Amino acid sequence: MDIETIKTQIDSEIQNINSPEKLEDFRVRFLGRKGIIAQLTGRIPSLPQQERAEFGQQVNTLKNKILSLIEEKQKFITAGLIQSKTSLGDISMPGIVQELGHLHPITRVIDEICTIFNRMGFSVVEGPEIETEYNNFTGLNIPLEHPSRDVFDTFYLGARCAVLGARKTENRKPKTENRLLLRSHTSPVQIRVMKSRKPPLAVVVPGRVYRPDAVDASHSFMFHQIEGFMVDENIRFSDLKGALEVFAKSVFGKDIKMRFRPHFFPFTEPSAEVDISCIICKGKGCSVCGRKGWLEILGAGMIHPNVFKHVGYDAEKYTGFAFGLGIERIAMLKYGIDDIRLFFENDLRFLRQF
Ligand code: PHE
Repeated sequence: MDIETIKTQIDSEIQNINSPEKLEDFRVRFLGRKGIIAQLTGRIPSLPQQERAEFGQQVNTLKNKILSLIEEKQKFITAGLIQSKTSLGDISMPGIVQELGHLHPITRVIDEICTIFNRMGFSVVEGPEIETEYNNFTGLNIPLEHPSRDVFDTFYLGARCAVLGARKTENRKPKTENRLLLRSHTSPVQIRVMKSRKPPLAVVVPGRVYRPDAVDASHSFMFHQIEGFMVDENIRFSDLKGALEVFAKSVFGKDIKMRFRPHFFPFTEPSAEVDISCIICKGKGCSVCGRKGWLEILGAGMIHPNVFKHVGYDAEKYTGFAFGLGIERIAMLKYGIDDIRLFFENDLRFLRQF
């Protein structure tokens, strides 16, 4: 074969190469020990003296051409610009469907409730899930000996707390007041907001809270609350009632009835637990409401003057209300869900229904 024929052959062959394997074949065939270039070089000694130099040069040029073609092709292949026909696969096959997600039912209920309070002039604020013992308890007028401060009722952070937790009853009282903990309610955000702003204020606070409860159909060690509070001159209990009524009727329908039962919270006085008429039996009594006809949905009250003192507000001048509700409970009632664990198990069969 003469050099010109080889050149044409190379040009047409290189075009069809589209994989590293084929390129290697090509290289071996032309540049290998027994390859075409080696054969051509082997011919030199048998040529007449005067032709040797020119022929040798032509072989050399050809060799360099092949080298640079290989290098170029190599770049294409690595850059993935050339795909072998087989790696394209069956282009008539249906593509992989990208599933579109949607908001979690808990997020939807949070959004819905925040929107309702937004319309009444409340702004949305969030606070950290890791809180100081002061904001979670002391600032909220929760006394040192209150059971909710017990290491068995609150997740304290740090090794010291774990040791405390392992001890017997007589040592259960916290010895210091500056520990960190996973907040057990959203109420500490009251302290944060009031310390950083002056009245008038109207705020709702959605977020996660933590309590070391054993998990069952109605308990979880982590759940969500929405805190709400309003502070100004002349805020009255009737303002609380009005705001909560708008909320309950927007979420559960206009026919819902509400009742306030006297209750106790250290950070509100007077305090109440708020019930709505059972949305299942409309107040007649069924298994969901335990035959009572009423469902408890939140805790509320007028902010205790001691809380105002802790944040540096004039308790003579300002009054305010606060309430706290559990989102899972509202979502369970709203959607007819009977097990709180369903919210956290990430079972798509459950989540797809929303
Ligand atoms: N923080 C209370 C709880 O977690 C709820 C509450 C908030 C009650 C605000 C009154 C006022 O149970």
